[in-house]
Amino acid sequence: MACSVIAIDGPAASGKSTVAREVAARLGYAWVNSGAFYRALTWWMLREGRDVREDRLASIEARANFDGTEARLLVDGMDVRQHLRDPEVNRHVSPVSQLPIVRAIVGRELRAIAAGRDCVIEGRDIGTCVFPETPFKFYIDASPEERERRRREQGESDSILERDRLDTGRTVAPLEPAPDALHLDTTCLSIEEVVRRILAAIAAPRAG
Ligand code: DC
Repeated sequence: MACSVIAIDGPAASGKSTVAREVAARLGYAWVNSGAFYRALTWWMLREGRDVREDRLASIEARANFDGTEARLLVDGMDVRQHLRDPEVNRHVSPVSQLPIVRAIVGRELRAIAAGRDCVIEGRDIGTCVFPETPFKFYIDASPEERERRRREQGESDSILERDRLDTGRTVAPLEPAPDALHLDTTCLSIEEVVRRILAAIAAPRAG
């Protein structure tokens, strides 16, 4: 039987990670944060320098590994988790994630992961581009003010509205809800309520 993919997309600081991790834990699925993959590649490119060439990018070894039930992308064998939230990474991750070669690397790893296990995958284009065939699609949002408040509370310097602008405005895999995604505005919802609604939607018999 094919493995299940639960796709959770949405803008920065919408609560995706907390919700995706919790849904995965309750279902016993793997948790895959695709933004962390783009962040790992961004950190690597910043380290290589501005003029990193496409053929060098194409030849890097970027492989997903599991740390418990959480997928991590190792770049050239390095686990760079302590750098994923660096201000420099926050600033550059949107432009870097527009590069077709970068999207190809991440897309390939996500499909390899999902071929072998049930998983909850969060990101920007999981339901629209990477796994359009999954029946389990969710789009999580919150007001810009609430998302900025949440990010401030995490003590991070991150221009989330600028990232939203780049992520929604790009031509390749823009952030947008899949037409068949269940849209959840979490501005006034607790994490528990969002998780409950997702689990209920997954358990409900689907029309058609
Ligand atoms: O989820 P996050 O904020 O950590 O993601 C960081 C960036 O990675 C986001 O601004 C755009 C990019 N990204 C993407 O292009 N596609 C995805 N599926 C996930 C993230």
